[in-house]
Amino acid sequence: MPALVLLGAQWGDEGKGKATDLLGGSVDYVVRYQGGNNAGHTVVVGDQKYALHLLPSGILSPGCTPVIGNGVVVDPAVLLSELSGLNDRGVDTSKLLLSGNAHLITPYHTTVDKVTERFLGKRKIGTTGRGIGPTYADKINRVGIRVQDLYDESILEQKVEAALDFKNQILAKLYNRRAIESGKIVEELLAYAEQIKPYVADTTLILNNAIDEGKVVLFEGGQGTLLDVDHGTYPFVTSSNPTAGGACTGAGVGPTKINRVIGILKAYTTRVGAGPFPTELFDKDGEALRTIGGERGVTTGRDRRCGWFDAVIARYATRVNGLTDFFLTKLDVLTGWEQIPVCVAYEIDGKRVEELPYSQSDFHHAKPIYEMLPGWSEDITKAKTFSDLPKNAQAYVKALEEMSGAPISAIGVGPGRTETIEINSFLS
Ligand code: IMP
Repeated sequence: MPALVLLGAQWGDEGKGKATDLLGGSVDYVVRYQGGNNAGHTVVVGDQKYALHLLPSGILSPGCTPVIGNGVVVDPAVLLSELSGLNDRGVDTSKLLLSGNAHLITPYHTTVDKVTERFLGKRKIGTTGRGIGPTYADKINRVGIRVQDLYDESILEQKVEAALDFKNQILAKLYNRRAIESGKIVEELLAYAEQIKPYVADTTLILNNAIDEGKVVLFEGGQGTLLDVDHGTYPFVTSSNPTAGGACTGAGVGPTKINRVIGILKAYTTRVGAGPFPTELFDKDGEALRTIGGERGVTTGRDRRCGWFDAVIARYATRVNGLTDFFLTKLDVLTGWEQIPVCVAYEIDGKRVEELPYSQSDFHHAKPIYEMLPGWSEDITKAKTFSDLPKNAQAYVKALEEMSGAPISAIGVGPGRTETIEINSFLS
């Protein structure tokens, strides 16, 4: 089972770190294929807790090669500070590989991200303010700066100048900000060049060879399906493709090489930032999910919006990603409710709708249709097998599986590394 994609099936923050943990030492390469330091994985190793934003979680497993693929946007200052933070804690980061084709987030991208959000006022996206959108915009506009540009000073100067020509007009004339000097940016970028150089590699070639040799390669998605720029709740999305196809373009690996696509699915739903969210709760149940589930962003520290499980979204994630399995996380958070509502369909303009509507207006009007499932009160954090779960928890999982369209192959029953029930191995 050489190549697997692991991605968020909802709006991100589904607990992907836990799934990576389960695969543990069996993985040879962990590859990030999109996003940047807007992501946030918490990985617990022994009694140590690590919050990673840009680096692939494989950086913490000694036998594993972590890879930042071409589809990722890289803030060099963040990269170096995450690396030195890990080095200070005794983690060896020397195996990291960074695609020379990955685009760089520069200070002008973060500036543009922040001023644009301010300018949008109440229509803002609620971005993480890390410069993600403006960097991808430059990539598509063909005025981006790539990692490889750091090693040709004259090209770098020309490219930064070209990128700033237009941006400075906007910054000064529209946003009333001071223009950014290209010389300063070039100087700052060049200061990172030598430190980054040992990691730069032809990652596409390395990954394809690894797959051909039967190595286990795990593509780790940031954010989630509903934040995908093509398949998510546009415009309230991130600017990349967390969905399975993004792993192919963002790492340079063909779809025929991918064997398994695992969707990480939280037993309820959360979202950070603005945008539609049909099952969102504004009452004490929402507050309870937030508190019990520790629903606060790893990257932004913002409280997450919380709501009941939405099977329409899960079905959609199965469809647009071609999911082969689900990893259901945080089931333990639901312990203690007498009845648990699950959204099985939407009501839109008086009609029952079973599938996620493609129309943004329809989705904004979607009202959840709930089915009530019986809850459980027993502590499930010690459960090791499916049959250890109380009958009602088993029935909840089975119902979700049936509604979501792919088998649930693992269940998270607690925050610790070992608090997972494995039903089918992801590597078989
Ligand atoms: P951006 O990715 O910073 O441009 O933000 C766009 C949207 O994606 C905002 O609603 C963010 O809150 C959301 N977002 C970005 N990264 C994550 C993540 O890792 N988890 C959850 N939401 C995210």
